[in-house]
Amino acid sequence: MTERRHQGRVALVTGAGAGIGRAIATRLADEGCALVCTDVRCDAAAETAAQINRASGQAIAFEADVRDRRQIETALAGAIEAFGRLNYLVNNAGLVTMHRLEDLDDEAWDLVVDVNLKGQFVVTQLAATHLRQAAPAAVVNLSTIESEVVVATTGHCQPHYNASKGGVRMLTKALAVELAADGIRVNAVAPGPVQTGFVPGVDPTDPRVPPAVLDRLLIRRLGQPSEIAAAVSFLLSDDASYITGTQLVVDGGWLTR
Ligand SMILES: NC(=O)c1ccc[n+]([C@@H]2O[C@H](COP(=O)([O-])OP(=O)(O)OC[C@H]3O[C@@H](n4cnc5c(N)ncnc54)[C@H](O)[C@@H]3O)[C@@H](O)[C@H]2O)c1
Repeated sequence: MTERRHQGRVALVTGAGAGIGRAIATRLADEGCALVCTDVRCDAAAETAAQINRASGQAIAFEADVRDRRQIETALAGAIEAFGRLNYLVNNAGLVTMHRLEDLDDEAWDLVVDVNLKGQFVVTQLAATHLRQAAPAAVVNLSTIESEVVVATTGHCQPHYNASKGGVRMLTKALAVELAADGIRVNAVAPGPVQTGFVPGVDPTDPRVPPAVLDRLLIRRLGQPSEIAAAVSFLLSDDASYITGTQLVVDGGWLTR
């Protein structure tokens, strides 16, 4: 039987319409949490909420771009109206675009840094009002091994992505310090390569691992979204009650050597 360790709690997950975000939302719901699923793609967020409700969970959905304060405020107000409180925030929404350095223009830089880094700031700042009134309260930010090392398996790296996620690592620490007095824990999960549609042009149904990626892995396969969701659920849970300001790496051993 699924452990109901999040029973009676309420979570908002950004980017909940696909991949890791959907896996986090369904995992938390399976463990008793009520879910507010948000995504820039309204239909995708609604489908995640529908899956949860079909499985006898509780979920509502909102279209919300993490850069849009008005949409985020609407989703937060909806959470309070539907469920009365907010215990957890998962800053999961993120994206990457692929360019050589000479082709990386200001538009691509701003898109990736704004969604991945500023979005986590915006949503946390707005959600903090509600998290302060809840007990327990916790935040998990999606980072990446690329906050620690530069990955260039396609032949070139993504400086804007590295910069955004390096920022997430330090934002996590700063938020942990700022929010500690309010009883809110803040941590990050740093995945290695996970089988989703995250990398443009990569088929999310294809489990094959490019040789350059495989060479780095001690556990020689792609991670599954559910394996990232398990780590997020742990860091939100009371089992992690003495953990704040840290980044938990879930990477099949990528960073080990
Ligand atoms: N898949 C990987 O290999 C991997 C590895 C390390 C870290 N991550 C991180 O995990 C997180 C989730 O990635 P994923 O693999 O599930 O990707 P994904 O592309 O499958 O899902 C991302 C979701 O975020 C949504 N989104 C994009 N821009 C948004 C915005 N402005 N506002 C709100 N929602 C938005 C998308 O619509 C999509 O539903 C990201 O932060 C990513 O950086 C992924």
